Amino acid sequence: MCEDELIPPQADMTEQEWLRTGSATATGEPSMPTTGRTPSFVNRRTLLGGAMAGAALAVLPSPGQPSASAAPRPGVPGAFPFPEHPNGKGEFAILVTGDAGTGDEAQYAVAAAARDVCRAERVGLAVGLGDNIYENGPESADDSEFQDKFEKPNSGIDVPWLMVLGNHDCSGLIPGSGGDPSRGDREVAYAATSRRWYMPSRYYSVPLPAADPLVEFFAIDTIPWSSYVAQLDPHYRWDGPYMREQRSWLDGALRASRARWKVVIGHHPYLNNGKHGSAGSYDGFEIGNYTSGVHLKDMYDNVVAGRADLILSGHDHTLQILEPTARTGGTRQVVCGASAKTEDGKAHFTNPAAWQNFSDHGFMLLKVSGARLTIEAYTVDVATRKATLAHRARQTRPVAAPAGAHA
Ligand SMILES: [Fe+2]
Repeated sequence: MCEDELIPPQADMTEQEWLRTGSATATGEPSMPTTGRTPSFVNRRTLLGGAMAGAALAVLPSPGQPSASAAPRPGVPGAFPFPEHPNGKGEFAILVTGDAGTGDEAQYAVAAAARDVCRAERVGLAVGLGDNIYENGPESADDSEFQDKFEKPNSGIDVPWLMVLGNHDCSGLIPGSGGDPSRGDREVAYAATSRRWYMPSRYYSVPLPAADPLVEFFAIDTIPWSSYVAQLDPHYRWDGPYMREQRSWLDGALRASRARWKVVIGHHPYLNNGKHGSAGSYDGFEIGNYTSGVHLKDMYDNVVAGRADLILSGHDHTLQILEPTARTGGTRQVVCGASAKTEDGKAHFTNPAAWQNFSDHGFMLLKVSGARLTIEAYTVDVATRKATLAHRARQTRPVAAPAGAHA
């Protein structure tokens, strides 16, 4: 298990304030204020890494990013194009990965197994569900970590990758805290130079095909709604202008979408049977009014549920295809965060599931046609780099009609 996976939240304290409250030990490790649980300490290596990142931060602006809705990729030489037509099987096939950015053997093994499946299934697009660059996100827009933790492992999966921000991508001093959203701007900037990495802004939508969309992806930034610490920059507070603008954008974009199928992609899940739990009660913490993801839950409840067919999320290093329910308005939650790390092997919660796995590495495929939406879960044996199709779930009726459709 990653040391920083259970960070005790500190409501209304920034990363800097939190660290200041703890007196450093002889080993350089800060002591954490108690929250009634045993804290997992930030170790010396990650603290020093974070401190260097913090120094780099000082020269970075933190602009609000405009949203984007265009699928073409102007200005990126040799960028892999978005698919304009279904593959030979009459579908758009999309690879789904999450929490992959370690650069370790497991990431390479899952990517190698996925590469074989992508070729066989004629995959034309991929999704990366956040925590793209462990542990603190990139130090710059041309950090070598982009090569080591994304380009090299995914070599041969030569399609556009729709990337979203994870809490590790947006952390400064404390790995995984989500306490420095401005670091995500480096991942946006990197997209301008990569043939694979697609992130035109911090949140955006991509219709496929662009002219007459069958499916539309809505990529969102869940971090300031669910970080473990308060945001230093008021622009990124959970109730600040950035999140208000994003929520308003998503509401309008879902309403205006002409696509038959709508898929929201974001790092933190709405529902989750893994150890982090569901939005509104993440990690069992009830401190403050945002660390549990309560405002993310409100957004999912009121903006996404009953309007999108799927929510694809990572964060929990598991594979889960949950059942659509009346509570979700027919929207199905899928968790796919086991593309480099795994979890503790057991379910912690009891949301109805079509299939779930808490111990294996893996990835998923999403297949889209006019007749159906199909999600396939693959587990991967890291030693042999082989994938096994573990489950297939289908739905044939969209939860909401596209804009302009007659009732
Ligand atoms: Fe995460």
